[in-house]
Amino acid sequence: MAILDKHKVLEKNATLLLVFSFLVVTVGGIVEIAPLFYLENTIEDVEGMRPYSPLELTGREIYIREGCYVCHSQMIRPMRDEVERYGHYSLAAESMYDHPFQWGSKRTGPDLARVGGRYSDDWHVDHLIDPQSVVPESVMPKYAFLMDRELDGKYIQDLLETHRMVGVPYTDEMIASARADFLVQADPDGDWDDLVARYPKAQTRNFDGQPELTEMDALIAYLQMLGTLVDFSTFQADASR
Ligand code: HEC
Repeated sequence: MAILDKHKVLEKNATLLLVFSFLVVTVGGIVEIAPLFYLENTIEDVEGMRPYSPLELTGREIYIREGCYVCHSQMIRPMRDEVERYGHYSLAAESMYDHPFQWGSKRTGPDLARVGGRYSDDWHVDHLIDPQSVVPESVMPKYAFLMDRELDGKYIQDLLETHRMVGVPYTDEMIASARADFLVQADPDGDWDDLVARYPKAQTRNFDGQPELTEMDALIAYLQMLGTLVDFSTFQADASR
């Protein structure tokens, strides 16, 4: 009981209590953070992950610009209800080319980490133009204007270079062909071989159904690839990591 009596001193002295609380939090923080500096790699290598194609990356910029992350998360937690609803829980590697990451902190709408392939392009077009036309009770805002905003890819090379600066392994070849890759992905008459060689599994087609290349194309190209890169039928979690 003697030690508990001493605790009284702490409880009765606000300054002392603050100092000791701070010490306790510091110890907790060090225990959590310090190991990360010594682990060679805290991200498990996962087959299939690649940097975003120029068009997908542009779609991602639009996603950020429009604040989609305010209502949507991109992180499926390893709990049964989530995995049953959204699919395999998210892996750290799936966000490794995201700067900044889009995990989000609020779900007014559903998690989008694996929305790729869940709906048709037409559904996305209808839904983004007028969400209530497909989900009457939806509170999602309308993004019809994306259909009218044409893209020419003038700055796409700079965008890739910026991402390379923060660690995304874009090669010189990818940067050099950024604009061509950007323009060809949604062009139904284009030659897609080089693009798909550089960005395996890149989906190629006219995403929004109109002849012009618009922000709608870019955003849907991004949504349709989310969660489609890693093949979970062959993925084995490595518990030794
Ligand atoms: C005000 C909050 C809000 C914002 C902002 C918002 N959404 Fe949504 N979103 C929702 C809600 C609520 C739903 C569920 C109802 C529905 O399908 O419309 C939804 C559904 C979706 C779905 C269907 C998901 C599924 O699995 O059924 C997609 C895709 C989507 N949103 C994309 C976007 C994109 C892209 C943006 C940004 C351009 C965006 N949302 C912005 C609230 C929002």
